[in-house]
Amino acid sequence: MTITNHTPAARSVDAIKIRIQQRQARVGIIGLGYVGLPLALLYSEQKFRVTGFDIDQRKVEILAQGGSYIYRISPEEIQAAKAQGFSATSDYSRIREMDAVIICVPTPLNEYHEPDLSFITGTTHALAPHIQESQLIVLESTTYPGTTEEVMVPILERENQQGLKAARGAASSRPEFFVAFSPEREDPGNTTVARHDIPKVVGGLNPQAAELACALYGSIFRRTVPVSSPAVAEMTKLLENIYRCVNIALVNELKMLCLRMGLDIWEVIAAASTKPFGFHPFYPGPGLGGHCIPVDPFYLSWKAKEWDFHTRFIELAGEINTNMPYHVLASVGAALNRQKKAVNGSRVLVLGVAYKRDIDDLRESPALTIIELLQKEGAQVSYHDPYFPFIGKGRKYDLQMKRSELENLGQYDCVLIVTDHSDYDYRRIVAEAQLVVDTRNATKGIVSAKIVPC
Ligand SMILES: NC(=O)c1ccc[n+]([C@@H]2O[C@H](COP(=O)([O-])OP(=O)(O)OC[C@H]3O[C@@H](n4cnc5c(N)ncnc54)[C@H](O)[C@@H]3O)[C@@H](O)[C@H]2O)c1
Repeated sequence: MTITNHTPAARSVDAIKIRIQQRQARVGIIGLGYVGLPLALLYSEQKFRVTGFDIDQRKVEILAQGGSYIYRISPEEIQAAKAQGFSATSDYSRIREMDAVIICVPTPLNEYHEPDLSFITGTTHALAPHIQESQLIVLESTTYPGTTEEVMVPILERENQQGLKAARGAASSRPEFFVAFSPEREDPGNTTVARHDIPKVVGGLNPQAAELACALYGSIFRRTVPVSSPAVAEMTKLLENIYRCVNIALVNELKMLCLRMGLDIWEVIAAASTKPFGFHPFYPGPGLGGHCIPVDPFYLSWKAKEWDFHTRFIELAGEINTNMPYHVLASVGAALNRQKKAVNGSRVLVLGVAYKRDIDDLRESPALTIIELLQKEGAQVSYHDPYFPFIGKGRKYDLQMKRSELENLGQYDCVLIVTDHSDYDYRRIVAEAQLVVDTRNATKGIVSAKIVPC
């Protein structure tokens, strides 16, 4: 898509594109978490001078000292970025220096399971007074279709100090800024696809915004995929996550049936995966975790109500997936029962508390729910996870537990594998333990009567 007219806006689009090509464009990233910090580093690697914005003073200070607070990002990477001009700040007035601003703040659910847009609105209110003519503002946070246009743009237009309007429709000569939505598609822990190989979907509020955003992302991603509006891009991300959520619910339900029928669901999935078309494998587990899959679908089901629409697949998948930690509790109870023991008073070691293998992220982890459920039933619960020496307080839990050593496993009545980190020596674990309840097929290939698939 190339715009060839010569209005002032078009000229400034060309000017910013040249600045991007020459790596002179200043890139601001708001929200230096699991999404924003790696993105800042990607731009920095491509020789852009990046400024990160975060309200968390602790993060700003760690970065200022050349440190990192994300396990898979090394201090050396931060230092290399700093040498390239990367800095972090809480001072929103520095937004004025940026050519493009990318917003990567959280989008959780509130206690009623409804979208909590307070981080997006908070950021937008803080940003609005400082935006400049021709600046590009991109939202990356996962959210329902309409957020960029219905929530963000009105605040930016109302609260900027120069009477700027968001560029809509064809190029115009009035003072404008550009707006786009581009969803983050990172898969934490996935080492098979490099981040720059994940195509970047971009929905501009108008063609120029799309062109600019594609130019910006085209400098760090191999492929950009322009779509016709921010809402299409917002919906695209939700479709991807709902697809995962629904398919995981499907295999979770079929797993419970297979357990009852004495079939191995993992063997079934492996066999089905040999079909060269029309089947994509999803795997069962102890419940959904992470910032995205348990949360994002409900952004859409909430929005759908505005249209008198009931998203039944999302609700059903949510019901099945939410039930999985209860299924794990029941399985531990049944396994202990077979050994003439009760959950009450038993010592249970939970192995792995991160929400998935080999990552340092606890958010929405089913392990936390499982620990709480076991404790409620009177179990004495310990845990081990290479990534978490301590579990303190989160949004929905307050466990205050210290990691146990991974030794003398025979002292536990049950070792419960919740997250199948690849560091674990499962043969040794099975050999030492009295009983192993395995929610992840981590003990595949090990033959022992102690193993209870769950
Ligand atoms: N983590 C993932 O793997 C992933 C993948 C795809 C999409 N997403 C989406 O990306 C978004 C960000 O997720 P994340 O995992 O990076 O979250 P995160 O909690 O790790 O990071 C968010 C950061 O934003 C900061 N912040 C909050 N309000 C702010 C404000 N007003 N101004 C400046 N900084 C502010 C927080 O302090 C935090 O550092 C979410 O919408 C999420 O759904 C995440």
